[in-house]
Amino acid sequence: MSKRYLVQTFGCQMNEHDSERIAGLLESDGYSQTDDQSQADVIVVNTCCIRENADNKLYGALGNMKQLKADNPDLQIMVGGCLAQKDRDLIQQRAGHVDVVFGTHNVHRATELLSDARTNGPITEIWEAADPDDAFPSALPARRELDYAAWLTIQVGCDNSCAFCIVPAVRGEEISRTPNDIVAEAERLAADGVTEITLLGQNVNSYGRDLALAARRAGNQAVRIRPAFAQLLRSVSAVRGIRRVRYTSPHPKDMTAEVFDAMAETPEVMPHLHFPLQSGSDRILTAMHRGYTADRFLTKLAAARATIPDLAVTTDIIVGFPGETDDDFERTLEVAAAAEFDSAFTFVYSPRPGTEAAELVDDFCDPAVVKDRYARLRTVTERSALAKHSERIGRLEEVIVEGPSKKDPSRLTGRTGQNKLVHFDRPDGPLRPGTYARVEVTEGHTQYLMGDFLEVTTKATHRTRIPVL
Ligand code: SAH
Ligand code: SF4
Ligand code: F3S
Repeated sequence: MSKRYLVQTFGCQMNEHDSERIAGLLESDGYSQTDDQSQADVIVVNTCCIRENADNKLYGALGNMKQLKADNPDLQIMVGGCLAQKDRDLIQQRAGHVDVVFGTHNVHRATELLSDARTNGPITEIWEAADPDDAFPSALPARRELDYAAWLTIQVGCDNSCAFCIVPAVRGEEISRTPNDIVAEAERLAADGVTEITLLGQNVNSYGRDLALAARRAGNQAVRIRPAFAQLLRSVSAVRGIRRVRYTSPHPKDMTAEVFDAMAETPEVMPHLHFPLQSGSDRILTAMHRGYTADRFLTKLAAARATIPDLAVTTDIIVGFPGETDDDFERTLEVAAAAEFDSAFTFVYSPRPGTEAAELVDDFCDPAVVKDRYARLRTVTERSALAKHSERIGRLEEVIVEGPSKKDPSRLTGRTGQNKLVHFDRPDGPLRPGTYARVEVTEGHTQYLMGDFLEVTTKATHRTRIPVL
């Protein structure tokens, strides 16, 4: 029987995609996947450090693995990802049973490190920066979680300096992949039967700025220094077989009318915009170094909605940034209400050592006040989510089937163009994930829709993976 591995992932889509790449490397090395920790020969924990509770989760999870290692001395435990990049040697100091610690820039070294550790004992290997030739997770074999949908990295790192954010410290500077590489990968995915692609980067709409600067430095003065993201959306959408294109995350300050035009004119680009507000107070936005005012945010949002028919808008908002007053928070409530988001990820500010805002200790907000503000903000964002979702009732939507509903496996779940989940019944039995179907929306809830199945519009075409045991 082949050796087994299990990858546990925390954090954002970049980490999910890195995990697919780690799984792909392990499978190329002859390992097969298991869901059962006690059966695993290798456990990889791919970590996140965006907020403090992510740290706590990791050390909790590692503590639980001590017994597994005692039961199976051959078990190897690997810790990778953003928290590993940040904590480095500290991980093995706090959890001596960890065999390999690797960071965000040397994911491709996972299997080599594993075999090194088997002969030479525990290793921590952290690279300070990405090797530009090896920066892109998509360039390695990946074991995709879904057969019909795929992530495609277009850029790694982040050149912004939002005062609250640890990402630039752990993911390094922005490096864009070339358009040719991206389109070639989209073509390979399409040939595999993938119909939906999500372009990934920390700041996708500044895509290409570094490539243009490099071309200028190399003497080509004709190159325009402007983000090439709008063109990239069009090129990926033109790949035969790709029916849906999404992207995450853009930054409001870099958002241009060209991107909205490309979305409106390209039917494959789905009508969903993630537009992270963070705060509605100009004072706080300045302190955060976000590069826009609340008015500017709302003006761009109005332009997006005017250009792109039936656009869904989601956001991220932080409550309790250092120095946030009642007035600042009232502005956040007002702007969130005016923006009428379809859904919002709301976070309590969490100081991250090494970031600018973490130094502002004297201005930290009272946790009880923050808790109250958080609840009030949720009321506003849930109200607009419910209103948006209720508006969908009676609509016919094309969904891509994801599989049985998690809540009620007798139902199916699909995702609409606007990126909303719809749970629906199909009396004639299940449909293969990746099938496109038309449903009529019958109910709108805060987090999801309910619907009735009408018809299959396109059958799934991807190859089904046969597990190797
Ligand atoms: N690159 C993405 C953000 C990645 S982090 C972007 O710019 O949109 C995802 C979200 O986590 C951020 O938008 C922010 O709302 C939240 N976040 C980041 N750092 C945080 C912190 N220190 N405390 C609380 N929330 C934070
Ligand atoms: Fe963090 Fe800001 Fe970069 Fe997003 S844009 S990853 S919030 S620094
Ligand atoms: Fe977390 Fe790293 Fe993503 S810190 S949010 S996994 S970039």
